[in-house]
Amino acid sequence: MKILVTGGTGYIGSHTVVELQHAGFDVVIVDALFNSKEEVVDNIAKITGIRPEFEVFDLTDRAKTDDFFRRHQDLVGIIHFAAHKAVGDSVQHPIKYYRNNLDSLMNILEGMTTYGIPNLVFSSSCTVYGQADQLPVSESAPIKKAESPYGNTKQIAEEIISDTVHVNNIRAIALRYFNPIGAHDSGLIGELPNGVPDNLLPYITQTAYGIREQLKVFGDDYNTPDGTPIRDYIHVVDLAKAHVKAVQRMTDNTMKQAFEVFNLGTGNGYSVLEVIKAFERATGMTINYKIVGRREGDIEQIWADPSYSNAELGWKAERTLDEMVASAWKWEQHYRKE
Ligand code: UFG
Repeated sequence: MKILVTGGTGYIGSHTVVELQHAGFDVVIVDALFNSKEEVVDNIAKITGIRPEFEVFDLTDRAKTDDFFRRHQDLVGIIHFAAHKAVGDSVQHPIKYYRNNLDSLMNILEGMTTYGIPNLVFSSSCTVYGQADQLPVSESAPIKKAESPYGNTKQIAEEIISDTVHVNNIRAIALRYFNPIGAHDSGLIGELPNGVPDNLLPYITQTAYGIREQLKVFGDDYNTPDGTPIRDYIHVVDLAKAHVKAVQRMTDNTMKQAFEVFNLGTGNGYSVLEVIKAFERATGMTINYKIVGRREGDIEQIWADPSYSNAELGWKAERTLDEMVASAWKWEQHYRKE
């Protein structure tokens, strides 16, 4: 069974390709390489012994996308990761985000309809919940007004998919990710941020490596036990495995509705300072950090209620915070040496 993975050379995409191959799926990757490197395909092949098919083009190009589907009518499903994802950049360049993230989705849905490809897994985000009124947050929590154009593209995308499955013979699962961190055990694939990292873990590992002088902790005056914000960090390999379960749910015909939504988190919340301490514990290093003012748009605290995903997908995040930060460090060192 062949699966198209869009954005398959990206951070979550590459880990998912590996898990799909381990589970016996054939994979074709489409990636425009806007924010990733072609060498990732070689590293996937090193890990699994199987080289995925790979095509480089932009899925917002309708003609190229149609041509791709015309040549790949044997696909049983698509996992759509390809998207711009930087919150701050989306505030500066909203149209770039709306055009890229939504045009690509619509071209894919159109191709699925035209060529009879039945199954779609979509990368969504816990950002759709905003600051949830109740924690942990379950899938039935209300969707709050998006904090950024990026977050809005995820909300609008879920609506587009929901509308499309009602009139076409398509099934879809949206996976709402909490905070994926860490890297594959091999150290061969991991997160490769462009320029100065926005996210906490790459900033920590780059500070540990000496690329960044000092980590800024954005605020310690939140209403949390140590004053720093709380997130549900999840190991990217655990996250990748949930995608395989979602695909299998579709191909095994065990979905309960044509469009389903699942939270992907561990159910545990950790503060920024707890993550730094876990990194120091796991690596024996000391992180040079300083408390500064809050970052605009950050929510105070969120963690998942993963019970519905655990029960329905037969999946559970297994790796601990210490394993997550240790694997991120292994990847940073491996990548820099290469
Ligand atoms: N943080 C710092 N210093 C840094 C970077 C981050 O203190 O240099 C803090 C943030 O303030 C936040 C926590 O670390 O409290 C996590 O921040 P990240 O940027 O790693 O992750 P976010 O929770 O802000 O963002 C993630 C995804 C987004 C998604 C969002 C939804 O990266 O794509 O969750 O809430 F939109």
